[in-house]
Amino acid sequence: MELLASGRDADVYAIDRDRVLRRYKGNRNSAGEKTIMARLHTLGFPVPRVYSARQRDLIMERLYGPTMVEALVSRDLEAERAGEMLAELHKRLHKLPPPVPNKPDHRVLHLDLHPGNVIITSKGPVVIDWRNARTGEPGLDRAVTGVILAHVAAGDSILAAPARDLLAAYREALGEPLSHVREAMAFRAADAHLTEEERNELSRAEALLV
Ligand SMILES: Nc1ncnc2c1ncn2[C@@H]1O[C@H](COP(=O)(O)OP(=O)(O)OP(=O)(O)O)[C@@H](O)[C@H]1O
Ligand SMILES: [Mg+2]
Repeated sequence: MELLASGRDADVYAIDRDRVLRRYKGNRNSAGEKTIMARLHTLGFPVPRVYSARQRDLIMERLYGPTMVEALVSRDLEAERAGEMLAELHKRLHKLPPPVPNKPDHRVLHLDLHPGNVIITSKGPVVIDWRNARTGEPGLDRAVTGVILAHVAAGDSILAAPARDLLAAYREALGEPLSHVREAMAFRAADAHLTEEERNELSRAEALLV
């Protein structure tokens, strides 16, 4: 099988023209993601169709198109539009019916919605990488995206300036102030993948969100 991409958590292989295999590098189970993605697909939210999940493996629809990061770097997409797209995706996700009957304020949260996890297909943006997904308060999902974007904006990579514009456009398009910022900071800080430098930058990111 052709290796299409190797991320921090998973390798993604092309099975054929229509399907990819996402295989966790570590000992993680994909069954939870399959259940969430299948429900979202049924409700009309743009996620890859899932075919099967077994232990570390998830077989899903193969998407064609650049990630939002690639589209930003190639200048096919402006930061302002990307920010609006992220806000639109969050609004759509959080408008779906509550998944747990006795928790009417809870929704499905992605908790990692950023430009690396959106593929721009000919049919529009599609959200991938549902490893963090769970139910909870939508404000936390929005704040996590805010913290991720602020984190990049606070760094010195070539993506820092676009991330600043993207964050501003995202917040504007949400039409309401960010809540849950403290909780989102703690959530990101708990990410075992962060380097020492990234942790220092994360503490600077909070200043961009007040
Ligand atoms: N359904 C798909 N169709 C085509 N390519 C895909 C699909 N899902 C993932 N990919 C490719 O694999 C890459 C990594 O996917 P994903 O984000 O799920 O893994 P990851 O290990 O979390 O990666 P990262 O550390 O970069 O977030 C994507 O950027 C994309 O290039
Ligand atoms: Mg990813």
